[in-house]
Amino acid sequence: MTASVTTFTALGLDPAFSPTLAALGITEPTPVQTQAIPILLGRRDLIATAPTGTGKTAAFLLPAMQRMIGNTPLRLTGPRVLVLTPTRELAQQVGKAAVDFGRALPRCRTVCITGGESYITQNKALAGSYDILVATPGRLMDQINSGRIVLSNLEVLVLDEADRMLDMGFADDVMAIAKKLPKERQTVCFTATLSEDVQRMSRQLQNDPQTIAVAKPAERLQIDQHVFYVDDIGHKRRLLDHWLADVGINQALVFTSTKIAAEELAASLEADGHSTVALHGDLPQKHRTRMMNAMRRGQARILVATDVAARGLDVPAITHVFNFDLPKFAEDYVHRIGRTGRAGASGTAISFVNRNDVQALQKIERFIGHKVTVSSVVGMEARFKPGTGRPASKPTGKPGSKFAGKPSFGKSAGAGKAGGSAERPWQSRKPARHTPHHATQSSGRSSRVG
Ligand SMILES: Nc1ncnc2c1ncn2[C@@H]1O[C@H](COP(=O)(O)OP(=O)(O)OP(=O)(O)O)[C@@H](O)[C@H]1O
Ligand SMILES: [Mg+2]
Repeated sequence: MTASVTTFTALGLDPAFSPTLAALGITEPTPVQTQAIPILLGRRDLIATAPTGTGKTAAFLLPAMQRMIGNTPLRLTGPRVLVLTPTRELAQQVGKAAVDFGRALPRCRTVCITGGESYITQNKALAGSYDILVATPGRLMDQINSGRIVLSNLEVLVLDEADRMLDMGFADDVMAIAKKLPKERQTVCFTATLSEDVQRMSRQLQNDPQTIAVAKPAERLQIDQHVFYVDDIGHKRRLLDHWLADVGINQALVFTSTKIAAEELAASLEADGHSTVALHGDLPQKHRTRMMNAMRRGQARILVATDVAARGLDVPAITHVFNFDLPKFAEDYVHRIGRTGRAGASGTAISFVNRNDVQALQKIERFIGHKVTVSSVVGMEARFKPGTGRPASKPTGKPGSKFAGKPSFGKSAGAGKAGGSAERPWQSRKPARHTPHHATQSSGRSSRVG
């Protein structure tokens, strides 16, 4: 990866985008944007992987939107660009990014359709003319079958979070949708992993794709990761309370393993006076959208969610991610914690690990390639000590004085401390982050990924 700084215009992007991007705080391309944009402007197919929060959305949207500049004689029927995402919230977010970037263009309309939404509103939106369609595969398939979408003018198909889409069982829908598209098109695939399934799909849908894999830098400074050993759920709850008492936490995302646990925890946090919302797949879509909007607008401080929120969601004010329950699959850990520390900002990820989770933690550590720092809060240490050859730290300070003592970690989550600006010049637009004041002790080196 080259450290040299370039501009969007130097990558071939039309200068018309520059003022709009600058107004969004986007002035210098990230590594994935630097690599992907010229390939996509060259109309090649692409299969790309890059770390969380590094601007993949703009990397695929901007070159696709450049097609809308200049040469559109007549309003065409149906979309010229189709973006598929695995979750409704992600579709809405990508749709919003397309609307934001589209302000740079004299004429560019985006429609977003997802499951759970009213057909009446959706049908009305689809009856108008539009250039970009962002959708989840299931509802899109419905709408195609009902004849409401003409796909014969499509020029670009983007699969965002392609691996997740396949994991969620959308393979048949994606293939069926692709069959309806012109053969002459550009197909762009962004994926967290180049799994066998993704490669098979790429062979079927793409034409001689270029591949880019933006590695995470050797030293990831964005996300300060800690494990807290816990004895039981009550202990988890007390530790969470301890953390949430920290006014330095801007917004927090708390992951649970089940929908019911998400509901219960959210209700109990709300009852304790924390402004909390819940998000999981069983909630009505209207409610889900309201909850996400409350988080985005800062009207709620805590979002308790299942893995439906693990991929792609970008709420820059999230300073802390808590794994109240560890994820079932090690790779989801990376996506969950990637909801903080985005666009070069710093963040903190805290995982609660009980005696039954020790193996799962080892799997996560094998997946991320390093150990996660074990920390504890004075007076709130776990009785259980895992026999991993990595003892939990022995906290100092008076038992019970949970806010006593000097903070032993989290400093890097402080304002503007994440890395050198020369390395990530695009980080400066992010709000200042806090330094948590907890009486904590850490064993082992601090570990971060992004
Ligand atoms: N060049 C840039 N400079 C500054 N901020 C940027 C730049 N590009 C994108 N961003 C911002 O970075 C944030 C993360 O972008 P995005 O959601 O596209 O990341 P991502 O790589 O898709 O992450 P994930 O893997 O979690 O899906 C967004 O808030 C976006 O506006
Ligand atoms: Mg993304």
